[in-house]
Amino acid sequence: MTDSAAASPARIIDGKAFAARLRERVGRGVERLKAGHGLTPGLAVIIVGEDPASQIYVGQKGEMTRAAGMRSDTHRLADTATEAELLSLVDQLNNDPGIHGILVQLPLPAQIDASAVLAAIDPDKDVDGFHVINVGRLTAGLPGLVPCTPLGCLMMLKDALGDLTGLNAVVVGRSNIVGKPMASLLLQESCTVTIAHSKTRDLQGVCRQADILVAAVGRPEMVRGDWIKPGATVIDVGINRLPSKDPVKAAEGKTRVVGDVAFEEASQVAGLITPVPGGVGPMTIACLLMNTYTAACRSVGLDPTLPD
Ligand code: GUN
Repeated sequence: MTDSAAASPARIIDGKAFAARLRERVGRGVERLKAGHGLTPGLAVIIVGEDPASQIYVGQKGEMTRAAGMRSDTHRLADTATEAELLSLVDQLNNDPGIHGILVQLPLPAQIDASAVLAAIDPDKDVDGFHVINVGRLTAGLPGLVPCTPLGCLMMLKDALGDLTGLNAVVVGRSNIVGKPMASLLLQESCTVTIAHSKTRDLQGVCRQADILVAAVGRPEMVRGDWIKPGATVIDVGINRLPSKDPVKAAEGKTRVVGDVAFEEASQVAGLITPVPGGVGPMTIACLLMNTYTAACRSVGLDPTLPD
């Protein structure tokens, strides 16, 4: 792309609309499974404690699961629950034939070892894709369950750009939930992939090489306009809360949500960009529903390809 073409503001990737279409496709897939095979996909979500953000996420997951025609069970444990209690519940759900997906909402209280709990989930019901078996399958290019947020990012990228072969992709952030699986997925699409992080030298210079820039660092508006190659595609995974710009509202404790990318600046340089909110966020739950559908299909040996 020429610089003059890139000087116009970026096209916005509408994650909210994309996610709504994906949930609708999952809903039609579920109808087909029910009618053709008498199978209703079931998702069990476990939440431990009262973390307000987690309560909101879990409520949304339940609502959208039901709206897609699936069974939704929410298991609420007190924040004093023991690891043994949680492991016993996971074991029960692993052995429940009506449950095809299990999600343990993170973070967990300090007395519970999250990695021990994640390791106890049946990998074929691990709709978060966090089990090391699924991490290994993704890295090896084998069929498995892929973490929802990077899967949603990849779907938006392929929809916007088509074939990603040969593109320079820079992923900023090396978390197990987003950065690492995102890099694996982009590598599988034959991108040239760099994972950058807080210790990267000349982070700005590395980012400026990117045709695809994925920001997943959890630092509000860290990626500036002059970090972006003109015409690049920018995917902003960050969800950060800052005080309201209005000082009166800020004094009342009102907040606004921003991404890891300084949107106003970046959208003057990028070719395509996801907004926050309304970009990656809505895709995460839509991909959770898709993963539950995938797990249900595979449990009876059916092809999990969604209807168009
Ligand atoms: N907490 C915040 N995001 C997530 C997620 O994607 N999965 C789980 N299990 N917990 C979370």
